[in-house]
Amino acid sequence: MKLGNDIAAVVTGGASGLGAATARALTAKGVKVAIFDLQAGKGEDVAREIGGVFCEVNVTSDESVDAGFAKARAAHGQERVLVNCAGTGNAIKTASRSKEDGSIKHFPLDAFNWLIQINLVGTFRCIAKSAAGMLTLDPLEDGERGAIVNTASVAAEDGQMGQAAYSASKGGVVGMTLPIARDLMSEGIRVNTILPGIFDTPLLAGAPQNVRDALSASVPFPKRLGRPDEYAQLALTMIECGYFNGEDVRLDGAIRMAPR
Ligand SMILES: NC(=O)c1ccc[n+]([C@@H]2O[C@H](COP(=O)([O-])OP(=O)(O)OC[C@H]3O[C@@H](n4cnc5c(N)ncnc54)[C@H](O)[C@@H]3O)[C@@H](O)[C@H]2O)c1
Repeated sequence: MKLGNDIAAVVTGGASGLGAATARALTAKGVKVAIFDLQAGKGEDVAREIGGVFCEVNVTSDESVDAGFAKARAAHGQERVLVNCAGTGNAIKTASRSKEDGSIKHFPLDAFNWLIQINLVGTFRCIAKSAAGMLTLDPLEDGERGAIVNTASVAAEDGQMGQAAYSASKGGVVGMTLPIARDLMSEGIRVNTILPGIFDTPLLAGAPQNVRDALSASVPFPKRLGRPDEYAQLALTMIECGYFNGEDVRLDGAIRMAPR
């Protein structure tokens, strides 16, 4: 898809990190960008900076996502691009024994379900509602109606201790990429997923320097954290390159995560 000022995009999680970088990169190509995020303050700031629209959206809520698409489409028209970056994590062992008193506990099921609802169901909710909107558009000259990029994680393939829920949620995003691409193939909508390694986002900004140094050293090459603009570069390639479809691509400096 040729990106320009005739194209509208929605970026979930666009108030911060990988999503904010992608919102900026799309804007630099002339695209009209709407940001969906829980964080109103940061989201408004990014939207103001890029001349876009902020929609306070919780991806776990049908009503909230519907209202977000209504606001975005009223401002920019039906989006041809959706980038899903909204997500979060938790770290809890499946079952564990307390070092203090030997008591045994397991991963609380509500915490497991909470993360699946955000990272997996939230991503699917935005895809399904955005794709339904894209079906109302005329195809572009090459038959394309839209392009969707999702964010999984290398934890979909090599999840660490404590990441059962996170890896399940991201593995779900990887697993649904091809069938969704197949569901939408006759309508000219492409779907791809990025599996980021360790990126320098607000998620990690608070970590002590020695932790950041150790994480950087664990990357084969280049020996540093990924930059959000490098994520955005791949997201834009997936959108712009018309033959990119149904792919799950690691972007990780060749890292393979250790058990912990
Ligand atoms: N940073 C990394 O190293 C890394 C690695 C692998 C995968 N990822 C994934 O990339 C995505 C972006 O992460 P990031 O590092 O930019 O983190 P981030 O915290 O900077 O950005 C995530 C954004 O998602 C928003 N969000 C969270 N829950 C939401 C909800 N229910 N509804 C709407 N918005 C919600 C947050 O408010 C935040 O602005 C996440 O899905 C994360 O799992 C990040």
